[in-house]
Amino acid sequence: MITLKEKIVKKKAKVGIIGLGYVGLPLAVEFAKAGFNVTGIEIDKDKVRMINRGECYIQDVKQSELKELVRNNKLKATGDFSILKEMDAVSICVPTPLRKTRDPDISYILAAVEEIAKYLHKRQLIVLESTTYPGTTREIILPKLISKKFQVGKDFYLAFSPERIDPGNKMYTLKKIPKIVGGITRECTRVAYLLYKQIIDQVVVVSTTESAEMVKLLENTYRIVNVGLVNEIALICNRLRLDTWEVIDAAATKPFGFMPFYPGPGLGGHCVPVDPHYLSWKLKSLNFYARFIELAGEINSKMPEFLVGKIDAALNERKRSLKGSKILILGVAYKSDVSDPRESPALDVIRLIKERGGKVVYNDPYVPKVEGLKSIRLTRSSLRNADCVVITTAHSDYDYKEIVENARLIVDSRNATKGIKSKKIIKL
Ligand SMILES: NC(=O)c1ccc[n+]([C@@H]2O[C@H](COP(=O)([O-])OP(=O)(O)OC[C@H]3O[C@@H](n4cnc5c(N)ncnc54)[C@H](O)[C@@H]3O)[C@@H](O)[C@H]2O)c1
Repeated sequence: MITLKEKIVKKKAKVGIIGLGYVGLPLAVEFAKAGFNVTGIEIDKDKVRMINRGECYIQDVKQSELKELVRNNKLKATGDFSILKEMDAVSICVPTPLRKTRDPDISYILAAVEEIAKYLHKRQLIVLESTTYPGTTREIILPKLISKKFQVGKDFYLAFSPERIDPGNKMYTLKKIPKIVGGITRECTRVAYLLYKQIIDQVVVVSTTESAEMVKLLENTYRIVNVGLVNEIALICNRLRLDTWEVIDAAATKPFGFMPFYPGPGLGGHCVPVDPHYLSWKLKSLNFYARFIELAGEINSKMPEFLVGKIDAALNERKRSLKGSKILILGVAYKSDVSDPRESPALDVIRLIKERGGKVVYNDPYVPKVEGLKSIRLTRSSLRNADCVVITTAHSDYDYKEIVENARLIVDSRNATKGIKSKKIIKL
């Protein structure tokens, strides 16, 4: 009988991806491109329909590539979990948000694992890719799959491998980002390693699933803390009446021991503002308070308020009040050149301006509508009509020179107008 490892190497293994979002769809496409037969299992019926029609909804996946893979029967989608019976390898790519109380919400993982348990069979590999706290794979998933009939590392394999994609990054695509793998047993690690080695240039093995889970959280904690630090530096520079950006750029000329991070209107996206709180939550249960994470979260979450304070002061300087002023927000995506507005600080900025009586309109070439607002066309007259233009996301398609020429007042929270000299520009 052909072993799972042989099936993987010969690209005969059937790959199932649970959750076809920002993480799952590019992964499914990469496996299909490598020659595997891939089935995406997704609860969103619209996404299933779109994939099976060869229509793409994720910016980083090429429409033509997706269409070709669907046409050649390499990739399909379904909402029917019984297909798991046929799958040799299954990657779980479902969301891991925070609850309102800022506790981890692993209910999506649990729902997916419940389905997997129903259809688990011998020689099947299960890999969790969703970001989560150390211990999830062993303490939560393993007990739901293991039984007398199914021994882990022998009858089935279980591993954790964090997704590290950077949406919009054209240089470091999925294939080029080294992948971390840690299994429950050595054999689990070996099988998971082999699977990812088929599509990713470098696969890095760690000794346990907990270690693999922690790697991802270290990476995102590193970001949240450094962004928190630089946001505090921005507040300090403001007090000292110094140009934050000049200070950072000059410090970045040091060829060692310094890595520049940049301030902004706050942290956004599905990962960096959320994931470290998975870690601090877990540690609270071990009676350990993760101070850096909590502090950074606190500083970062105050940045929208600080930015709105700057807008208020800039208008005040021009004898206007924020109340009643027309504010044009440029960019609502959480970072430049992507279409994802999840957790975007621009949304907090909009809410705060509205609370203070400002009239908000926005433009974002990537996000046509958000929270009941529609992106307006960016024209000379829309710029001139606004009492203040606020740059919240530095999309590279914007012509900043033109924006500065036509706007009456600009509050730039991203240093997008770098190099343009004008008294109209107020920087964060
Ligand atoms: N977006 C990123 O840049 C990124 C990067 C690295 C890691 N991650 C992590 O990867 C995970 C997935 O994130 P994402 O951005 O792809 O989320 P997403 O919301 O874009 O996609 C998740 C998909 O899973 C589907 N889904 C939810 N429950 C399901 C279930 N029980 N069965 C089948 N499908 C289900 C949803 O409908 C959705 O389409 C999260 O843990 C996230 O933290 C995300």
